[in-house]
Amino acid sequence: MGETVVLCAASEVVEGEIRQAPLPDGTNVALYRVDGAIYATADMCTHGEASLAEEGIITGKTVECTFHFGTFDVTTGEPTGMPCEIALKTYPVTIVDGKVQIEV
Ligand code: FES
Repeated sequence: MGETVVLCAASEVVEGEIRQAPLPDGTNVALYRVDGAIYATADMCTHGEASLAEEGIITGKTVECTFHFGTFDVTTGEPTGMPCEIALKTYPVTIVDGKVQIEV
């Protein structure tokens, strides 16, 4: 069982935007809302030093990293477009009292 981290209010995660939130280990997660549900992935692109929250564009469940136009499915973390080949780490999300929580 991992550690539970409370990130932000669920209302702060809106469709079409990417919300960055810090983790206790100093890395960040990126939060997305897709079809009403919230998903969390590592914020750092697996191809380079790009923050998806800062540099990415979310369309449906696909986040595009604008550094080299690689893409990932944010619901699974799987890479869906070159040059990205390594999956993003994903975190299980729960909403408790209107706040986004993940297990790390
Ligand atoms: S750094 Fe993200 S696609 Fe290259």
